[in-house]
Amino acid sequence: MSSFGILIVDDEILTLNNLKKALAKEDYEVMVADSGETALEMYNRYKPQLILLDLMLPGISGLEVLRRIKEIDREPIVIMMSAYEILEKAVESMKLGAYDYLLKPFKISDLKHTIRRALETLSLRIRVLEHLESEKGRYYFGRIIAESRNMKEVISLAKRVAGADRTTVLLQGESGTGKELLAKAIHYHSPRAEKPIVEINCAAIPENLLESELFGYEAGAFTDARKRKIGLLERGDGGTVFFDEIGDMSLNLQAKLLRVLEESSFGRLGGTQPIRVDIRIIAATNTDLTKATESGKFRPDLYYRLNVVPLIIPPLRERKEDILPLALLFIQELNQELRRAYKSISQEAAKAILAYPWPGNVRELRNIIERILSLYSDEEVRFTHLPSEIRDYREVPEAPGLEDVVAVGSLPTLEKLEKAYIKKVLAAVGQNRSQAARVLGIHPTSLFRKIKSWETH
Ligand SMILES: Nc1ncnc2c1ncn2[C@@H]1O[C@H](COP(=O)(O)OP(=O)(O)OP(=O)(O)O)[C@@H](O)[C@H]1O
Ligand SMILES: [Mg+2]
Repeated sequence: MSSFGILIVDDEILTLNNLKKALAKEDYEVMVADSGETALEMYNRYKPQLILLDLMLPGISGLEVLRRIKEIDREPIVIMMSAYEILEKAVESMKLGAYDYLLKPFKISDLKHTIRRALETLSLRIRVLEHLESEKGRYYFGRIIAESRNMKEVISLAKRVAGADRTTVLLQGESGTGKELLAKAIHYHSPRAEKPIVEINCAAIPENLLESELFGYEAGAFTDARKRKIGLLERGDGGTVFFDEIGDMSLNLQAKLLRVLEESSFGRLGGTQPIRVDIRIIAATNTDLTKATESGKFRPDLYYRLNVVPLIIPPLRERKEDILPLALLFIQELNQELRRAYKSISQEAAKAILAYPWPGNVRELRNIIERILSLYSDEEVRFTHLPSEIRDYREVPEAPGLEDVVAVGSLPTLEKLEKAYIKKVLAAVGQNRSQAARVLGIHPTSLFRKIKSWETH
């Protein structure tokens, strides 16, 4: 762990020099101060990450220096040193945020050990903070685009439910509509924000593993269980557990999850003690759970239990006002990531983007923007940059009526009727067979086969 800055503060020059020599060997960047005043000055100038601070200093005392540094920054680690143990001073310095207290004389090896441990704590603390900050930044409500009226309603409901600490939320929406994003925004906006959010993708984990992942197990619960394992439900204690793709959970596990929800407790596999947990559940699915309950794939009682606050995210094609703002957000974010300088979307490109029905929703839009930015270095997203499925997309015309196909009084056979109707549709789409197939709701090859069969008859 090199290039960590350490400031040593002591009024005894001999001590200063000894410590400096010993620590410089360790590859730390060492600086020294022989009074409290100099220490504060040095701290402000160099912002060392660690300070070795003698308690007894002429002028400003060590405790006072500690207090002032902690007023400026919470981060630096301060280790106090003193020639005699004054218990109350030690207690007071700990209260002021000192990391440790060393009694002089101490062995250099002990000091080095304490420093190493302190720096590990520090880098861990920074990593946890950075992670939390970056997650919060990525999932905060301010980043979620909602220009359309229906999306605005979803967001305002989501914000309200975020504050309701324990309320279960069920997110429903097609693939790529932003369910995960919303689940995390709710968590990071809730009173549980500083606690973990545990994600469980029910579709990705096989059933038998999912059970042990969820509940954990005791040593010896089954052949491979050598050590106790803490389950995800327990890890989420105090925080949020996010069940993604809940529609894919097996009926067996659904029954077990229902019990957890009803009792707020469960047991590890092979364990006898019930474990109480305080968790908020957010579940998401892109399958229609009402239908799944009708067909027996999802337990109705669990469905009602989860569906306390339903949030239904509309597909992108039903909120066209969001499309261009989303595209611009992704351009802005990906400009940074891919070092591009796109500024706008051309009129023609925007028109095509708006007309396209986005079956893969927001994720598809983001992917396409990413593809364009990585392939072309330009200032404007142009029509020619768009993939062919968007360039060639034409709105499917309404299927024509049957009225003039069926002549009054002479009822045709089904075969004749089909032929006449297909011809009518072909005429309506300018003989474009793939488009006709779309209107007719059949596969282009079966349309082709039908047309072929007329020729042979
Ligand atoms: N309203 C929005 N504003 C900004 N970004 C969004 C919005 N909706 C979705 N996104 C982005 O689109 C991508 C897909 O969203 P997300 O992964 O949350 O979708 P999902 O519904 O969970 O999809 P799936 O069902 O396929 O898992 C992510 O990059 C997300 O950040
Ligand atoms: Mg998802």
